[in-house]
Amino acid sequence: MGRSRSFKLHKELNPAPAEDVAVSPSANSSSSSRSFALPLFWLFGLAIAGLSGYGLSGAPLSSVRSMWIDQLFSEYIPPGPVHLHLLNERDRILGENNSEPPGLWDPPKSYGWKPCLDGNGNIPVKHRVQNRYLQVFCTGGLFQLHICVCNAVTVAWLLNASLVVPYFEESAVWKDPSAFGDIYDVEHFQSSLKNEVHIVHQLPPEFEWSTPQYYESKCLERPNCFLYIPKHSKKEWYFENVLPALESYGIVVLDRYHHRLSFEGLPYEATQLRCKTNFHSLKFVKPILDLARKLVKRLKIKAKVLQKRAQTKLILTSMNDTETRIKNANGHFLGLHLRFEKDMIAHSACYYGGGLAEKNALASYRRKTFKTFVPKTQFSAEYLRRNGSCPLTPEEVGLLLAGLGFQSITPIYVAGKKSYGGEARVKPLRDMFPHLETKLTLASETELEWFLPFSHKLAALDFMVLLESDTFLSNSAGNFPNVLTGQRTFLGPRKSIHPDKAALFALFSNTSQSWIEFSEAVNAIHKDRQGSPYPRPERYSIYRYPAPDCMCREPMGHL
Ligand SMILES: *[C@@H]1O[C@H](CO)[C@@H](O)[C@H](O)[C@H]1NC(C)=O
Ligand SMILES: *[C@@H]1O[C@H](CO)[C@@H](O)[C@H](O)[C@H]1NC(C)=O
Ligand SMILES: *[C@@H]1O[C@H](CO)[C@@H](O)[C@H](O)[C@H]1NC(C)=O
Ligand SMILES: *[C@@H]1O[C@H](CO)[C@@H](O)[C@H](O)[C@H]1NC(C)=O
Ligand SMILES: *[C@@H]1O[C@H](CO)[C@@H](O)[C@H](O)[C@H]1NC(C)=O
Repeated sequence: MGRSRSFKLHKELNPAPAEDVAVSPSANSSSSSRSFALPLFWLFGLAIAGLSGYGLSGAPLSSVRSMWIDQLFSEYIPPGPVHLHLLNERDRILGENNSEPPGLWDPPKSYGWKPCLDGNGNIPVKHRVQNRYLQVFCTGGLFQLHICVCNAVTVAWLLNASLVVPYFEESAVWKDPSAFGDIYDVEHFQSSLKNEVHIVHQLPPEFEWSTPQYYESKCLERPNCFLYIPKHSKKEWYFENVLPALESYGIVVLDRYHHRLSFEGLPYEATQLRCKTNFHSLKFVKPILDLARKLVKRLKIKAKVLQKRAQTKLILTSMNDTETRIKNANGHFLGLHLRFEKDMIAHSACYYGGGLAEKNALASYRRKTFKTFVPKTQFSAEYLRRNGSCPLTPEEVGLLLAGLGFQSITPIYVAGKKSYGGEARVKPLRDMFPHLETKLTLASETELEWFLPFSHKLAALDFMVLLESDTFLSNSAGNFPNVLTGQRTFLGPRKSIHPDKAALFALFSNTSQSWIEFSEAVNAIHKDRQGSPYPRPERYSIYRYPAPDCMCREPMGHL
């Protein structure tokens, strides 16, 4: 029955470095008025801000002028809240009724789908050809690396080759020199796959020459090195191109490897192996798992305390006080992948109300960072927004969550790094949901020492906390939310709300609806977008849609 459900598909989008990272805004909550959101400010925000008395306190004229110019051309003067009719309506309604709709935290329907990999797998044992080695150099953000490794394991199996523990190239965007073993448990990786693929730490002496340095920027000159492998290549491509090189040289390198293996046309066993690697074989190292567990516990305790406080109006003085008072807390928290970050915003080619300064700043960022042409820039911002291609603003995320029925006492764990426009952009969300937490607000400096400033380690920490969140909301289409949503579907299903941005655009544009109408519409739109397993449509990502490839269904499961 799940097969026939109507639900909007969302293409897996992988904008250049659209992946995830680092640190989030950690500011304190404070409330102040949203009254300065005049439409004029919206359009000419910078000019007005520039004129409205910044730094006119007796500074010499030249410096006043340069400040004025700075303001005029600063993208960091974000516009105020935009959807005032909804914000005001909501405030009014909240005064009357602030109870959660029943079933808000319930997991979505599984439609009978269950994981069917038992960890030891039903995968035929390896057919290892002696002296045939596959070496992969993975690149990108953490979950591009994750996908690289899963694909590499599968390719090694297809080619009967031994796999060298994948090498992680430090990317210019993510700037994290962590090696495979700094992020993933190597012993577990090897032993979990020991029946299927022979994985080695080091090459035998006759291949010792085959190092990343040997190929560095010379891959195309080395006959056993493959760069620019076509995206989603079929197994035949590997048999035709990589296999002969393996036979001649004994070792082949796949350089800047990631999304280079098709989701279609693989032998059943290869798909099973890819699922197994994705769900079982890639385990983060202990420091990541340990801290994630602690943060989840703190969030749950906080949720419980806030619930209690709301129920009893009891004022508890501090977390210190409460930790001892509330044992075995199991409150609900929400995980948010806000991803309203500059690279994402620039790549989306959308407009966020910051006037000419924003447009210029983002255009210059695109030129610098993406180098190649960003195709979305050929569309108008209005078209992109209507089309559902623009990340929601923090304000819109807040309205969506409130519309779905989440109460302001809900703790929200916000993954990722600093939002574009800084705290001022986040403020409308924080006004609605004051308990925004990040790894920086929840963990101590000492606890974070091992993680900073490594973007992969921080992303892994975020991932594990979000994996355990009671409800997850993603605001972008990238590797991180795709892999995460797939894992939540596989493990639960756990509730993962996938916003329908095109439908939301239509809702936000309608200023004549009441909060109740808005809220009902939001719920109706997202009824079937909560992380239930749906059969993967052809060519869609197996990492995002684990059914039916990695799951089976009673009573007609195919394993
Ligand atoms: C209050 O809101 C909840 C959830 O939205 C709803 O289920 C309930 O019926 C409302 N109660 C009143 C009295 O309106
Ligand atoms: C791998 O080994 C199996 C079993 O010996 C064989 O059937 C298959 O053709 C081999 N494939 C390659 C690419 O060597
Ligand atoms: C926190 O708890 C510790 C030990 O229980 C106690 O010594 C300390 O005074 C408390 N701090 C505050 C701010 O209550
Ligand atoms: C968005 O644009 C694509 C391609 O132009 C189109 O196929 C799709 O229907 C559009 N979606 C919406 C919701 O307008
Ligand atoms: C706006 O919302 C109201 C109330 O739901 C609805 O009656 C109206 O048709 C909507 N307008 C548009 C343009 O969609």
